[in-house]
Amino acid sequence: MSGPTGVEAPAVMDLDDDARQAEVDTADALADVEQAPAQWRAALEAGQDVRAPLDLVDHVVVCGMGGSGIVADVVAAVAAPRYDLPVVPRKSPGLPAWVGGATLVVAVSYSGNTAETLASAEEALDRGAPVLGITSGGRLAELLEDAGQPLVLVDDPGRPPRHSTGALLVPVLQALELDGDLDDAIARLEGITVACHRDVPSADNPAKQLALRLAGADTGVPSLYGTAGIGEVAAYRLRCQLAENAKMRASHHAVPELCHNESVAWDDTSTAGGVLWICEDPAEQARVDVLRDLFDDHFAWAEGVTAEGASPLERYASLVGLLDLVSVHTAIARGVDPTPIAPIDRIKAAL
Ligand code: PA5
Repeated sequence: MSGPTGVEAPAVMDLDDDARQAEVDTADALADVEQAPAQWRAALEAGQDVRAPLDLVDHVVVCGMGGSGIVADVVAAVAAPRYDLPVVPRKSPGLPAWVGGATLVVAVSYSGNTAETLASAEEALDRGAPVLGITSGGRLAELLEDAGQPLVLVDDPGRPPRHSTGALLVPVLQALELDGDLDDAIARLEGITVACHRDVPSADNPAKQLALRLAGADTGVPSLYGTAGIGEVAAYRLRCQLAENAKMRASHHAVPELCHNESVAWDDTSTAGGVLWICEDPAEQARVDVLRDLFDDHFAWAEGVTAEGASPLERYASLVGLLDLVSVHTAIARGVDPTPIAPIDRIKAAL
């Protein structure tokens, strides 16, 4: 894992103070993220018997929202370079018109009660599509049990959905027979968790260093740029995690597409925040290097992280293992409790 270096921790944002962490992070969200490798490993066991009718379908749609929906993005990105079936993420109610009996619909909802995902699952059943559910229970479990469709019931130890993505992602990969690289991915997560554990001081801890950059970016909204595919998913994941955990905005975009539009806005430095380059694809490294040479000084600060590992899944794990920790440390550095998500609760209650 490579990460930023040389960031001094201002006293007000001391990430090496355990008492301050406990005071700010009231539910110890940091522990949820530090325990991600164990969560992925436990999920291997839970979902090992699940199989989907892959020989009967010609498309896969993975439905989910927010912390569950990121599973759809990851699976689609991991599958794209090597899978025979198209895998399409769905993050709104209903389904595309082409979905029918030859489409496997995977419905992922940690609570099992998310309206958009339920609407997609109901529509899939109406159209005669095979459905696989991944949930801790709720109405999704009832719906699929009544319909005689397969279900993976994941544990709900009270973790937020966004910190349960291992439990949700692993059974989907198993069901789709995309699980060949899971051991390497989990080993990669384990390495990062050790290197970036809360006990490792900021001077040696890449997650804390990047969090201090993000928490100190008071000049504007940070831009998170990932290489197309998994790098872009990692950038989007960090954007969502910064929003929910640190309660801060960020933008994200993909290399190389941003060369053809967003790059034109970089000349306006009046409101520029920092930039984080997330390189997952070695073939894109040269392009990222050129962009950094040309434009890094148009941002308030610039940092880069590079994926490691042989397979797409391992490389994703190498990024998300670091960036999920970054998001929680950013919250703590800002003095913000990572766990509450009052606006999401209000929106769900109102609809
Ligand atoms: O992090 C969160 O709590 C949200 O992003 C939820 O994941 C999202 O609202 C969907 O809920 P669920 O994961 O229960 O389907």
